[in-house]
Amino acid sequence: MNSAALRPEPRPGVLAVDTYVPGKSGKPGGGKVYKLSSNETPLGPSPAAVAALHEATGKLETYPDGRATALRTAIAKRFGLDPERIVCGAGSDELLSLLAYAYCGPGAEGIYSEHGFLVYRIAILASGGTPVVAPERDLTTDVDAILARVTERTRIVYVTNPNNPTGTYLPFDEIRRLHAALPPHVLLVIDGAYAEYVRANDYTAGLELALEAENVVMTRTFSKIYGLAAVRIGWMLAPAHVADAVNRIRGPFNVSGPAIAAGAAAIADEAHMAAAAAHNAEWLPKLIDGARALGLDVTPSVANFVLIHFPETPGRTAGDADTFLTERGLITRRVTAYGLPNALRVTVADAEANTAFLAALGEFVRGARG
Ligand SMILES: Cc1ncc(COP(=O)(O)O)c(C=O)c1O
Repeated sequence: MNSAALRPEPRPGVLAVDTYVPGKSGKPGGGKVYKLSSNETPLGPSPAAVAALHEATGKLETYPDGRATALRTAIAKRFGLDPERIVCGAGSDELLSLLAYAYCGPGAEGIYSEHGFLVYRIAILASGGTPVVAPERDLTTDVDAILARVTERTRIVYVTNPNNPTGTYLPFDEIRRLHAALPPHVLLVIDGAYAEYVRANDYTAGLELALEAENVVMTRTFSKIYGLAAVRIGWMLAPAHVADAVNRIRGPFNVSGPAIAAGAAAIADEAHMAAAAAHNAEWLPKLIDGARALGLDVTPSVANFVLIHFPETPGRTAGDADTFLTERGLITRRVTAYGLPNALRVTVADAEANTAFLAALGEFVRGARG
């Protein structure tokens, strides 16, 4: 710390953070847009969640229950868990950060994979710790690459499963292999933001491991399949001692009253979630096959988005495609900040938007070729 500084200076690491840039939501000049940039559900939230949210707005002058008991109980009931092992947050982002603040910090290292979610890096740096990046193999988390980077300073490892923005996943055997080889003092955070979409038989979100191990946390979100991104709700299942640590440092009322009410209603509406998962299962292969039929390389995805790769040839690049699509109101996500400058990430949307996207992508590819 420089005591001669003429103004307050953030502590080391803070200014190394590149501000998170969310997906675009509009196009210059306005007009109809299809937002395919933030992996939101086209089905919206459960009507029961919306009703609960409206009802909760009648009590805005009172503080919420700081322990979010109704929400934790509803989650615990849905998954057969002990509510004491659940901590809720203002989005899973908050929990991912709190875990770094509690377990990383100056002198410590946090590992995440090459194309992993950017919030991990921000959280590790904000804690004062050092981010360590493990390369991926075939755009998939590589357990051996992570293990090769574990040192005596490693305190936290983040794995997104399935990964964003690639859409690839690790079979649960691989997660178990990673856990078995990690020293017991390293916290393994399994981020299952897209877990509900996965239909692979060898996948699980990590619940079993978080229940049985002393150093595993599973995080989940209400922002994706539950359609409550604006309300900001996430939760984690953690060993009791980790839940205790995070409860000590979180804001005392970090989840709002309307969020508690909406989340509890959303998780009980299993039919709505199943409908969203079924819609995705129908359209995900159509988007993958449709883009491949145009000669584009598409990373196999098990989530609610696809990563489409473009050539580097001028006029045919991801940047050119982005401009072309944006002009037509189709807003996709550039993923340069994730180390993927030649790809676009596209969210599975409703039938109209998916169809419009594939038609415009075809126009772009044919125009670029011609
Ligand atoms: C992998 C991953 N984890 C966590 C989140 C954060 O979700 P939340 O809205 O719960 O903060 C996202 C959102 O994009 C995500 O992609």
